[in-house]
Amino acid sequence: MTARRPARASLVDTVALGALVFVPTFAQGPILRRRRMVGLAARWDTNDWACRLLRRLRGKHGTGPLLVKVLHRRVLLLLSPRDARQALEQTTVSLTAASRDKVAALGHFEPGAVLLSRGLVRQDRRRFNESVLDYPGTDHRLCPEFDAVIRAEAATLISRTTGRGAELTWDEFVRTYRRIVRRVVLGDVAEDDERLTALLNGLRADANWFRLRPRRHAVREQLWERVLGYLDEGSGGLAACVADAPRTARTLPQAQAQHWLFAFDAAPIATYLALGLLAGHPEKSRTDHDYLRACVRESLRLWPTTLAILRDTTRRTTWSDGSTVPVGTAVVYYSSYFHRDDSRLPYADRFEPEVWLDGRAAEDWALAPFSRGPAECPGQHVVLFTSATLLSALLDQGLRQVGGVRLTPDAPLPRTADHHALRFA
Ligand code: HEM
Repeated sequence: MTARRPARASLVDTVALGALVFVPTFAQGPILRRRRMVGLAARWDTNDWACRLLRRLRGKHGTGPLLVKVLHRRVLLLLSPRDARQALEQTTVSLTAASRDKVAALGHFEPGAVLLSRGLVRQDRRRFNESVLDYPGTDHRLCPEFDAVIRAEAATLISRTTGRGAELTWDEFVRTYRRIVRRVVLGDVAEDDERLTALLNGLRADANWFRLRPRRHAVREQLWERVLGYLDEGSGGLAACVADAPRTARTLPQAQAQHWLFAFDAAPIATYLALGLLAGHPEKSRTDHDYLRACVRESLRLWPTTLAILRDTTRRTTWSDGSTVPVGTAVVYYSSYFHRDDSRLPYADRFEPEVWLDGRAAEDWALAPFSRGPAECPGQHVVLFTSATLLSALLDQGLRQVGGVRLTPDAPLPRTADHHALRFA
């Protein structure tokens, strides 16, 4: 029996995908957001273009994956929840999370991170990450200390802004969140180390260009040495848990810590948008911890910070329609398409944090703000705790939104949001 090939995108489909999916994703900065481009994308709601196009292609070609050929590259676009599940579940079996494109981007600042590793080395680094992050437990052993740090930083933020009658803006918010990240990851000694954040962000800006920008090895070395200094001191925060974690000569703790700092940077976006959602839905404003964690997950469902999850096939893989693709095919899970599929999800364009508490979203593998399967985010509970604690401290102030798009139940929520524009008083 000859193997079936997946449906193939026509030239017109390929051009449309380039213009409506690839260009807006690339322009906004997949690794470090570009403020102006995010503003433009939100004004035009480019994620809505992408979702509509992918639904049209599903109508035209069926629910099996769609093969897009660009020059010598083969890219498989997932269109059904079943295939999304397979790609995530079979990671490390017949697909790798260390895809060529991901290595090209993240390799600028964290070669050696678990997400870019394969085989036994990956297992070694995953074990280390799970141990430091207390995964899959929902409450990290240092939660009481993190709680004190977050509440102290929230109080300073309030006294600097709304407490003085000034507005809470994105710039103030992210400055505070980044201090919290340095304290949670590396301990209090790192709280003022803005140079560290600047070095990392410089390399993340390079990563936005994948291989089009040369690697700056000297800057990366500088960054790694700085991080290693904190880890060697066992200074506090997650760094203090490193000494107890299982490791070998191949673990490279500084590359893993590098990833924690980078990954944490999605959190202020999701948290600030969650603040906007709660301000726009006063009837849903509750401050218990599990509910606020669900609100942050819901913010990530509505506006995923990981715009696409990438895999490469490492074995010949068969999909839901019986088609197969060869080794080395890039596989794309485009987050907004699955998270906002209104043909499947009655709550697609509404703020409905309850879906993360009653099992509806948790059991649906196509909803994957923290990915799923063997590469699922082991830092999710730490980040959800951090964001929920900060939200509860800010909500106690009775904030209301005074700038930016209102995220209310009066109309379907936009599929692209500009977090920079929100302001609260
Ligand atoms: C809102 C914040 C975050 C989001 C949305 C997020 C999302 C994700 C996603 C989607 C992946 C999987 C990527 C893939 O499958 O290719 C991932 C992996 C990972 N995340 Fe997070 N993450 C966040 C914060 C964090 C934090 C704070 C940490 C650590 C402190 C962390 C640690 C990791 C690690 C170590 C991996 C790699 C897992 C592996 O390859 O096995 N993440 N994250």
